[in-house]
Amino acid sequence: MRILFIASECVPWAKAGGLGDVVAGLAPAVAALGHEVGIVLPRYGSIDVAASGFVPAGSACVHLGAGVEQWIGVHEARLAGVVRVWLVECDRFFGATAIYGNGSWESDEPTRFGFLSKAALQLAVDRDFVPDVVHVHDWPTALAGALVARPDVAGLPSLHATASVLTIHNAQYQGRFSDASWSWLGLPEDWLAPGLFGDTDGINLLKGGAAFADMITTVSTTHAREICGEPGGHGLGGFFAERKDRLVGILNGVDDERWNPETDPLLPARYSATDLRGKAVCRGELQERLGLARRTDVPIVGMVSRFASQKGFDLMRQVLPWFLEGDALQLAIVGSGDPGTEYLAWRLKESFPGSVGLFIGYSEEVAHLAEAGSDLFLMPSLYEPCGLNQMYSMRYGTLPIVRATGGLADTVEDASADGRQGTGFVFVEPTPEALEGALVRALALWAEAPQAIAALQARAMARRFTWQAAARRYEQVYLAACEHRARARAAA
Ligand code: ADP
Ligand code: GLC
Repeated sequence: MRILFIASECVPWAKAGGLGDVVAGLAPAVAALGHEVGIVLPRYGSIDVAASGFVPAGSACVHLGAGVEQWIGVHEARLAGVVRVWLVECDRFFGATAIYGNGSWESDEPTRFGFLSKAALQLAVDRDFVPDVVHVHDWPTALAGALVARPDVAGLPSLHATASVLTIHNAQYQGRFSDASWSWLGLPEDWLAPGLFGDTDGINLLKGGAAFADMITTVSTTHAREICGEPGGHGLGGFFAERKDRLVGILNGVDDERWNPETDPLLPARYSATDLRGKAVCRGELQERLGLARRTDVPIVGMVSRFASQKGFDLMRQVLPWFLEGDALQLAIVGSGDPGTEYLAWRLKESFPGSVGLFIGYSEEVAHLAEAGSDLFLMPSLYEPCGLNQMYSMRYGTLPIVRATGGLADTVEDASADGRQGTGFVFVEPTPEALEGALVRALALWAEAPQAIAALQARAMARRFTWQAAARRYEQVYLAACEHRARARAAA
């Protein structure tokens, strides 16, 4: 099959969260199964095309509403040697360095990303890369699925047999905006019906994309169930439930080239399950880097996260000060985002100097160091479609403390009291008491049963979540999407 990914993020060129890791991990794994795979991304102002290995690959004319045309520049590179990657250059929409805008109702997000969907399909057709399946991700590119279902609207008849798959990474972000750009994009008024893109007074790009998609996936089995109800569906629970025969949960993988403590070039020292000496070096370096006291008598609890309400900072705020007052742990926080959470993190650092280390900002290097140098890794998420950090932390021998939701429930097995079972510490209710209970269990084992901790670490480090396994499941979904499209065409 020929598969075209259209996405707003892909490492190493553009990443705001896990989506960037997933696109870069999945596409080469699908190609390794013998498929032809391409990715289209915007050329954001932050991407230095020449330094990133791209070469000029011509231009394309994108057709919009009322006969308006917009030309784009195209650049091409390879990912992992096997996947063709095209950048859509159009400074008017993507010249800024930020991937996403502020998300406000009147923002130009639907214009920018609606344009990306059209441009991606146009450039693929122009380059004879007519896909069997277009694989789109979250609200930014969901529209492209609708365009392949109705190639007459796209003005690209050669896409008549192309199917689409929509992967929902985060249903909280639905792309709800004013419909001001709809006619400019040349999209039909009847798509604004409530069962399609229409929303109160505006549009909902994720909902419309899901209505048109031949198959829908989300990033863990548990989350596929969660989004078919509330609160997991973020208001679309009933809508997803009606489509559950076309909805599949597929757990994300870990890119072993980038997240492997035995080879990780971003670490000051490397280590393996049989020789953890390098982990101690990383631990010391993390303390140094984040302003933590150099001590070994308490564990370091790490967090690497977008600062968003999803991630459970509110729970953490209610529980962690108590442990810090009791001098029971050190806390290493890496992240940025919501200003209220940034303020909370600064306050904690000021209140507990030497016990709270903070890196506000985005840094791959510091993120890898925190995964390797911490002893425990905290993800008290209120919801978590998959979550990558808990998988990374297990690989790095850093035991995750997670709430049993979405992919966290599917990947972390709760530790038994003797450490003979489990790969981390799991709590169920989203309450301060439940989080406190999990922390107490983890800290008690850490202080009193080093052998149990070592057994848990060994088991966690042996867990593998591969992109190969995920790709084989996506392959089945692509086939199902093609069948669905063929049936829809025959019925039309
Ligand atoms: P989400 O996509 O909801 O943010 P995931 O756990 O799926 O959550 O993925 C988050 C990704 O972003 C991980 O690769 C993590 O290491 C990375 N990340 C988050 N915050 C930072 C940061 N401040 N610096 C570097 N990487 C970060
Ligand atoms: C989202 C989710 C996260 C998931 C990631 C990649 O941002 O919040 O749980 O791991 O997408 O699929």
